Amino acid sequence: MARKIIIAGNWKMHKTVDEATELVEQLKQALADVKDREILVCPPFTALSAVAAALDGSNIQLGAQNLYPADEGAYTGEISPRMLVDVGCSYVILGHSERRQHFRESDPFINHKLKVALDHGLKPILCVGETLEQRGEGRHKTVVSMQVYRGLHGIDAEAMKEVAIAYEPIWAIGTGQTARPEQADELHWAIRNNVEGLFGEDVAQETCIMYGGSVKPDNVDELMAQPDVDGALVGGASLNVESFIRIVKFQA
Ligand code: PGA
Repeated sequence: MARKIIIAGNWKMHKTVDEATELVEQLKQALADVKDREILVCPPFTALSAVAAALDGSNIQLGAQNLYPADEGAYTGEISPRMLVDVGCSYVILGHSERRQHFRESDPFINHKLKVALDHGLKPILCVGETLEQRGEGRHKTVVSMQVYRGLHGIDAEAMKEVAIAYEPIWAIGTGQTARPEQADELHWAIRNNVEGLFGEDVAQETCIMYGGSVKPDNVDELMAQPDVDGALVGGASLNVESFIRIVKFQA
């Protein structure tokens, strides 16, 4: 089976409902002819419903940026997977470095969220990545492998087919400093090896491993040309209609 390609926009804490709707209306028209890759937008929770309505019948899918791993309950300020499915999400980003850093999310908590997401039919995008300091100390592969092992702990090969992994070196996120294509590919290859060790070669070959960290129109082609780079998780450049269109229409 061919590996799927996913280009996802992670809007983070940007866009009001009106701004979000305007952006997807434009994307919808410009990207209607794209058939060979999955396109995903992940707006903030407040815009999910309106974006879902605007995207109805289009080839652009909807994802959330997080979830809380319970169906419902006394969790003030949290959003459940049931609510995300209800509003039309098919994907959810989990373990983004900003959540690990600012909200102290641990690997076991992220693993729990991932299992709950799968139980609800949401496809997780598990984010992993090292700090500049860890890279400087030559520990980047170990750090990332541990995040992969812990994040995927206890799931089976069948469930893994629904999971995508995003390698996002923290030093490249929002900094304008992208990993060199061969630096990215080296880690993507290492991650695929980790997945192979856990689930076997067939699953590893099918797993979509996305790159994230200052993906822009002028570097996407080179990144996507790498053999183990199967997609992009785009932050800043996904907020602008022209740049996200160009990224989705990468030529590798
Ligand atoms: P960036 O963000 O493209 O703005 O670097 C990527 C991400 O954090 O997912």
